Amino acid sequence: MTLQPKRSVSDLALFGGTPLFTEPKHVGQLYLPEWSRFESSFQGIFDRGYFTNHGPLVRQLEERLAGYLGVRHAVCMVNGTVALMVAAKALDLKGEVIVPAFTFIATAQALLWAGLDPVFCDVDPVTHTMTAERVAPLITDKTSAILGVHLWGRPCDVLPLESLARDRGLALFFDAAHAAGCSMGNRMIGGFGHMEIFSMHATKALSAGEGGFVTTDDDRLADRLRTVRNFHLSETFVKVPLRINAKMSEAQAALGLLGLESLPAISAANKVLYDAYVRCLSPLDGLSPLLFDEHEANNYQYMVVEVDKNLCGYTRDQVVRLLHAEGILARRYFTPGAHRIPPFCDRYPRFVEALPVTDGLSERLMQLPLGQGVSSGDVEKVGDLLSFLRERREILEGDSRLDGDVLSHPRGTE
Ligand SMILES: Cc1ncc(COP(=O)(O)O)c(C=O)c1O
Repeated sequence: MTLQPKRSVSDLALFGGTPLFTEPKHVGQLYLPEWSRFESSFQGIFDRGYFTNHGPLVRQLEERLAGYLGVRHAVCMVNGTVALMVAAKALDLKGEVIVPAFTFIATAQALLWAGLDPVFCDVDPVTHTMTAERVAPLITDKTSAILGVHLWGRPCDVLPLESLARDRGLALFFDAAHAAGCSMGNRMIGGFGHMEIFSMHATKALSAGEGGFVTTDDDRLADRLRTVRNFHLSETFVKVPLRINAKMSEAQAALGLLGLESLPAISAANKVLYDAYVRCLSPLDGLSPLLFDEHEANNYQYMVVEVDKNLCGYTRDQVVRLLHAEGILARRYFTPGAHRIPPFCDRYPRFVEALPVTDGLSERLMQLPLGQGVSSGDVEKVGDLLSFLRERREILEGDSRLDGDVLSHPRGTE
């Protein structure tokens, strides 16, 4: 249920007014298939009595993902974080891996779990991604790989990174957790570098509830991925440094297959909401939506907004606090950057004060709700509220009630 728009500042929920949304609106896709499709897919699992260990649905999903992305192999895993760890072992990496600090913490955690040292790189202030120019000075004789991140589904500096990695004899892989259904020009993300790693978490446009997969065009690396993924007997036997249980279950694959069928429709529905947000935000100075290159496919799973206090009158945290009170669970991605989060800040103190662009973005960016639980009408209400806040910025300036704690993970949708 939603209530009337705000007329005066005392209507704001943070100041005791009634929240705009009584059912909270979440960041994260949270798409579920229709129950009947889900039920018949699950009936098959029960009928076969085949629940995991590279079952028919996992194999079907791998084939369909590879076909959809135009790659030779897609290797499904239990989740994206473990898929990153498996990828690092399959590549037999050692020493240091250069990675952006402006990413979800799992990117860096996976490296550490794989026994590697992340070397945190700053990002470009406009694209929010890592560039070859920023990576090059960080390469040392300890570097074994570069791990780019296609943040918000936008390809990072792929071609220059490919030539840098080739010239310096380094492995190159990409965290494509955000990038299912996205492209660079007319080439789908999935076929770049030695490998690309995707997440199928419930918050993603392509969801298996939990899940992930790794794509590669290299048959030898695909064999290694399949071997590392399985702690004992597997369909492949090649010598690898370490193995683990990273198998995807049939239940995950059932959801993933339905999600893959729906991905174009989900991306189109996201785009309608994204466009509605951009229309609402464009007259509001200091609240700038992240824009995508129209020549590239994107799944529009994120609604990224940069808050400029000098123009809109509020810090990002103040806006998020005001929105949370209204039931709009905007989130501060990624705050702070990985380089400032334990254990990374303690183990690698040299990066803590060294990444000004990451620190600036961490203070200014927020994500607005977008996904199955959000309608165009909801977006309009959020837009009206932000417009109301902007108009009242002089009245509210300096009001101490705007400052206080902001929950970083409301209601555990991630
Ligand atoms: C950039 C990035 N990398 C890795 C991951 C980890 O994926 P998963 O949640 O499937 O483990 C995420 C998850 O949200 C992510 O956003």
